[in-house]
Amino acid sequence: MPAPERVDTMGDIERNSAAGTSAPVRVLAVTSGKGGVGKTNVSVNLATALAGIGRQVMLMDADLGLANVDVVLGLQTKANLSHVVRGEYSLDEILLEGPRGIQVVPGASGVARMTTLSQAEHAGLIRAFSELRVPVDVLIVDTPAGITPGVIQFTRAAQDVVVVVCDEPASMTDAYALIKVLSREQGMDRFHILANRVRDEREGRILFRKMAAVCDRFLDVILDYFGAIPEDPLLRQAVQRQAAVTELYPGSPAGRAFRNLAIRVDHWPRQSGPQGHLEFFVERLLETRSGAGAPWED
Ligand SMILES: Nc1ncnc2c1ncn2[C@@H]1O[C@H](COP(=O)(O)OP(=O)(O)OP(=O)(O)O)[C@@H](O)[C@H]1O
Ligand SMILES: [Mg+2]
Repeated sequence: MPAPERVDTMGDIERNSAAGTSAPVRVLAVTSGKGGVGKTNVSVNLATALAGIGRQVMLMDADLGLANVDVVLGLQTKANLSHVVRGEYSLDEILLEGPRGIQVVPGASGVARMTTLSQAEHAGLIRAFSELRVPVDVLIVDTPAGITPGVIQFTRAAQDVVVVVCDEPASMTDAYALIKVLSREQGMDRFHILANRVRDEREGRILFRKMAAVCDRFLDVILDYFGAIPEDPLLRQAVQRQAAVTELYPGSPAGRAFRNLAIRVDHWPRQSGPQGHLEFFVERLLETRSGAGAPWED
């Protein structure tokens, strides 16, 4: 019957429209300070696990230097965000389809300096997001390592920030430094802490408590324990086979952990109102704010 089909289409358009009042998009940034602690794998597997429980997921590779989401998933990139910024492609045209129908926005070195976009490029990018026709419930942003202006920009534009830590002093100190900058310079006060590569759940909680103790003492922030992902050789095997562990080995310890995390994300309180729409995320992303960029140049 034609009628329900039409309702669906309208729903999709409305979902991403500035004027729309329906389902807002949850924007979740995955960050860590230190490199190599598992951000990209967390982003990819959380994305596929959320898709596995029925959410429409978009995954943005903001690791604009190395752009490795496509490598982890074995996807062929034909164009990226910089082409969209230049008006050569629409956002729909550059999207890659990943496992479980996740939509991947490939990263690009050309958009590393979001603050230096011209007025026209700026408007073009916002228009590209507002014209997007694919439905999105959750946008996951995989950020690069470091505490650079780019990382700060992508993170502060998100509603939920996941800070990945592992049991290494450098990971803890870098995560703390990142949280400190985001809270003191950007006024952010809530962070989800995710312990990666742990031996067991207990170790994850210990890591969280260490992090919470130091943040409570020196910063005015609220940390939430998101959970833990075990050290899992099957995750490494999945990386080698350019697949998500949630798809290749869903019953593995890491695969199961990601599924539980996805269910948890799905229960986090939702933002309502215009700030929940995709183009508002892009507007926040492009907003220049004093303080951004000063001591941590790329
Ligand atoms: N839970 C885990 N179990 C086993 N190995 C893991 C786990 N998490 C990450 N790794 C290993 O660490 C490597 C680096 O992970 P990943 O690329 O996701 O880190 P990253 O934080 O995105 O790095 P970068 O800062 O360079 O972007 C993976 O290729 C994998 O081999
Ligand atoms: Mg990465």
